[in-house]
Amino acid sequence: MNTTGGTEEAHFVRVFDDAEAIARAAVETFARLAHEAIEERGTFSVALSGGTTPRRVYELLASDEQRERVQWPKVHVFFGDERAVPPDHAESNYRMASEALLSRVPIPSENVHRIEGLGDAAANASDYESVMRGFFGDTEWPRFDLVFLGMGDDGHTASLFPETTALEESRVWVASNWVEKLGVWRITLTAPAINAARRVLFLITGASKAERLREVLNGARDPKRLPSQIIRPRDGALEWYVDRAAASKLEG
Ligand code: 6PG
Repeated sequence: MNTTGGTEEAHFVRVFDDAEAIARAAVETFARLAHEAIEERGTFSVALSGGTTPRRVYELLASDEQRERVQWPKVHVFFGDERAVPPDHAESNYRMASEALLSRVPIPSENVHRIEGLGDAAANASDYESVMRGFFGDTEWPRFDLVFLGMGDDGHTASLFPETTALEESRVWVASNWVEKLGVWRITLTAPAINAARRVLFLITGASKAERLREVLNGARDPKRLPSQIIRPRDGALEWYVDRAAASKLEG
């Protein structure tokens, strides 16, 4: 593992041998941040990412080896985005997280804040914002302790896809986003809501992401085309855990 990137706390890129090493490091970070947040504030708020990469992190967190390290009754789980499918659908981010983690740890069901994927996307987005405001209170932006993110081969993150309207959002915490190339609606946290977090952690693996990751980290700033570039915590840390294959084209 080697580390490159900006200032001490602001921006880190850590390169790991493989996806398993990334998953183990992400579990360490989760457990440490959960402990610190619960010590300081009594709760730990985390937004989970979907897709395939984080599943191993969730499985490890639920393992006999790791489960006891976290005070699950004091953890509040949110989601960075969701697909327009029911919670038991194979494409559901909630289902993936529930199977890999949430159904296997003692987290109260009322602490798991699922995004409704079925029905009117705009209504589901504003309903979810109300749920988040119920937890975070009367504040301009939600201050997550940790936000997990992934990056698609096209540079999207959460459901902030290239050239989509949700990228422009500067007022709402949660947006419905029409993704033309997929022909679907998605529900996603907006960039300002993610950028209010204490820590944002990207988990990125595989050679198919190498060129896009080079562009996102070393290329010209173009967040409309490379939405992962829009993630810059205003008062928090940004970390990238990437494997050697995904890091293969990074400069420096
Ligand atoms: C989703 C995710 C999305 C994901 C990337 C990477 O709902 O699909 O939230 O942003 O993180 O598409 O997905 P993989 O981890 O499967 O490469």
